[in-house]
Amino acid sequence: MAPPPSSSASTERETMTTRRSVLVTGGAGFIGSHTVLQLLREGCHVSIIDNLDNSVPEALDRVRALAGPALAQNLRFFLGDLRSKEDLEKVFSSKRYDAVIHFAGLKAVGESVARPFLYYDNNLVGTINLYEFMAKNGCKKMVFSSSATVYGQPDKIPCVEDFELKAMNPYGRTKLFLEEIARDIQKADPEWRIILLRYFNPVGAHESGQIGEDPKGIPNNLMPYIQQVAVGRLPELNVYGKDYPTKDGSAIRDYIHVMDLADGHIAALRKLFATEDIGCAAYNLGTGCGTSVLEMVAAFEKASGKKIPVKLCPRRPGDATAVYASTEKAQKELGWRAKYGIEEMCRDQWNWASKNPYGYRSQP
Ligand code: UD1
Repeated sequence: MAPPPSSSASTERETMTTRRSVLVTGGAGFIGSHTVLQLLREGCHVSIIDNLDNSVPEALDRVRALAGPALAQNLRFFLGDLRSKEDLEKVFSSKRYDAVIHFAGLKAVGESVARPFLYYDNNLVGTINLYEFMAKNGCKKMVFSSSATVYGQPDKIPCVEDFELKAMNPYGRTKLFLEEIARDIQKADPEWRIILLRYFNPVGAHESGQIGEDPKGIPNNLMPYIQQVAVGRLPELNVYGKDYPTKDGSAIRDYIHVMDLADGHIAALRKLFATEDIGCAAYNLGTGCGTSVLEMVAAFEKASGKKIPVKLCPRRPGDATAVYASTEKAQKELGWRAKYGIEEMCRDQWNWASKNPYGYRSQP
């Protein structure tokens, strides 16, 4: 009989992500597709469930091409909705998962104010169903997409994970409630290991320019908007707020390259496998650097060589003056920190935009 593995060997096996089977919800979306690529490169077997509400299958064809044929074999796709228990049954009956990374959700603040029912149904009901199927199938490791939105308009910056949480709109409340639900589930059953990742402002694209953000309709967020002005789809950028108490009067955010964010998920997954008593832990994924809207415009102009006409407008209701992350906890406990600055973010965003002016579609 083979001797039992030494404890260091078993710890190593427990820690590694290679050959792990990971279910990714919302894996065809912006952050999802970049993370799936990194998971495949890490040697994971990846299953995706996505309802393609704000994404297209073409994104996954490109992920497969970037990963190469050998790794692409390890990717499976289910067209499905987390609100449908039938869809979840299909996903969970076909395979055992070691962990779930849960991106699927709606994220437009304005739409959430107009259609709160849709947001509560989609984000809350979908996630509760997912936990139910995970528990039933003995998969109790979860990485959840939270957001810096849970800090509301912070009284102090940088935002530290133990700040009091607030929400300013229904979208933000879904993230806040889902964090609370995660804490309750873990408290009731300590076998759960849950990591809540609070993203700051994800931008940029994979360096190949093959995958990137492709929002439907007029973009709500700054960088996709700038990108569409640069390629001539929109005439000018409305800069919301010129009288903030900042160096140039425009608001400050913590922009983070989507590839850094994707790597943050790999670090979180490693942490989940390695740490039996992680409980339910929250980490900021940001750079710790604040950049103003006008600085972002200037950086994009430099990277693209395009002029971005701007119109200075009143503040957007609900916007904070300055939000950026404390990165200490993620650095110390996940061993992760962002590698890229705004120059690389703008370079890669422009590479994606210039190669794909209409996103994954070839024409308007
Ligand atoms: C927004 C959401 C946040 C969500 C995040 C990711 C709000 C209040 N917050 O964050 O909850 O988690 O997106 O989806 O909507 N800006 C312009 N012109 C534009 C667009 C934006 O000047 O056309 C400015 C904004 O006023 C803000 C900055 O650019 O100062 C960043 O805006 P945005 O990209 O929408 O992100 P957040 O508002 O930080």
